[in-house]
Amino acid sequence: MTATNNKNSVTVTDNRTGHSWDMPILQGTCGPNVIDIRKLYSESGCFTYDPGFTSTGSCDSSITYIDGDEGILRHRGYSIEDLAAKSDFMEVCYLLLNGELPNQSEKSEFKNQITYHTMLHEQMQYFYRGFRRDSHPMAVMVGVVGALSAFYHDSTDIRDPHQRLIASHRLIAKMPTIAAYAYKYSIGQPFVYPQNNLSYAANFLHMTFSVPCEEYVASPALVRAMDRIFILHADHEQNASTSTVRIAGSSGANPFACIAAGIASLWGPAHGGANEAVLRMLQQIGHKDNIPAFIERAKDKNDPFRLMGFGHRVYKNYDPRASVMRESCHEVLTELGINDPLLELAMELERVALEDPYFTEKKLFPNVDFYSGIILRAMNFPTSMFTVLFALARTVGWVAQWKEMIEDPNHKISRPRQLYLGADAREFVPMDKR
Ligand code: CMC
Repeated sequence: MTATNNKNSVTVTDNRTGHSWDMPILQGTCGPNVIDIRKLYSESGCFTYDPGFTSTGSCDSSITYIDGDEGILRHRGYSIEDLAAKSDFMEVCYLLLNGELPNQSEKSEFKNQITYHTMLHEQMQYFYRGFRRDSHPMAVMVGVVGALSAFYHDSTDIRDPHQRLIASHRLIAKMPTIAAYAYKYSIGQPFVYPQNNLSYAANFLHMTFSVPCEEYVASPALVRAMDRIFILHADHEQNASTSTVRIAGSSGANPFACIAAGIASLWGPAHGGANEAVLRMLQQIGHKDNIPAFIERAKDKNDPFRLMGFGHRVYKNYDPRASVMRESCHEVLTELGINDPLLELAMELERVALEDPYFTEKKLFPNVDFYSGIILRAMNFPTSMFTVLFALARTVGWVAQWKEMIEDPNHKISRPRQLYLGADAREFVPMDKR
């Protein structure tokens, strides 16, 4: 096959037969053009082949824009730097879900909706008690979030816009409670109910760190840092977990089941599990004298070790979330008066890696996960909770993307095809002849 580019279409020619087909070129608001191959199979009898979707757009979307070469991330047109500095997580949630920043009364109404959905059905506590205390909290998250569909039947009809809205609010509101309970269960402390006079971030810290026997007030610095971490993780276009949510949802599955699928996908170390892996890696490196040896291992094709928190499928420049996170990390550690040698080590590792042609030539820069673990550790979260916090914050993005898909009248079930390389048709071999 060969392809030639006319002004508004690409002509694909099958060189074996000489047949040609015109494929329209679609133009987005920003970003590369897209060749519309929807009719390719029906017209040419060929599929395209793109494992890992490195050149494939799976949908159209108006939520998030990334320019990986320039290191740009925008939600609904607003830069992540502006949102992190000038907004708060509730506003970002509203923006992602509705397309515009809220005015004062819209914001109060939205906050109210979220605040009054934070409690979990009381019986869900028994669900937690079925888990081993040493379960990974992400395993608990996958189970409990999936189980929401068994507790909130009145918001699982995806064709009803009101039920979709309630399910969205429930997911965003209950995720901090579910996450905090997962932590409390793992350390054998009583569950702490949500408190309606607190902000979203402050309430999460309260449910995570307070105990019934004494008063707990999170410092404003901690609350601000938590809120900013949530903003930085809120959405990231069609990444693995978001695509998982969309694919699960494309069959008409209920939103709780879809978000549970997204959590499962996020758990992997190549995706949201990287923040946990970064901290383990820094602990393993231990001292800056050991950095060169680890860098060599990362470069060695025969060694599976990779520099965790480095590299990104889309960013071929500094991940803009990593820049904000790096800054936040310094602020939080200074405000809390913590002198963490792991931060020093991380900065040194970053410096050494970015001076090494292996990383610069392959455009491997620190990503959002590189610094987040250090802040979360300073805030007293155990390593096993890091990816849980990512899931909590990403829920709004998943929900916004799921809603966008369901509300698109042209959406179809996702059903990729394959290049089959297995055995051709053959005669069944009876047992005594094998
Ligand atoms: N350390 C060493 N080499 C690397 C790294 C790394 N962290 N990342 C990529 N490479 C090399 C890789 O070996 C390959 O080399 P070659 O071309 O010689 O075969 C080249 O760079 C391209 O890598 P790739 O795996 O083909 O790229 P990808 O787009 O499929 O993978 C990635 C992207 C994020 C999975 C990968 O960079 C990685 O494994 N990074 C470490 C894990 C990590 O930090 N993940 C968090 C991503 S950001 C948060 C999120 O979205 O969840």
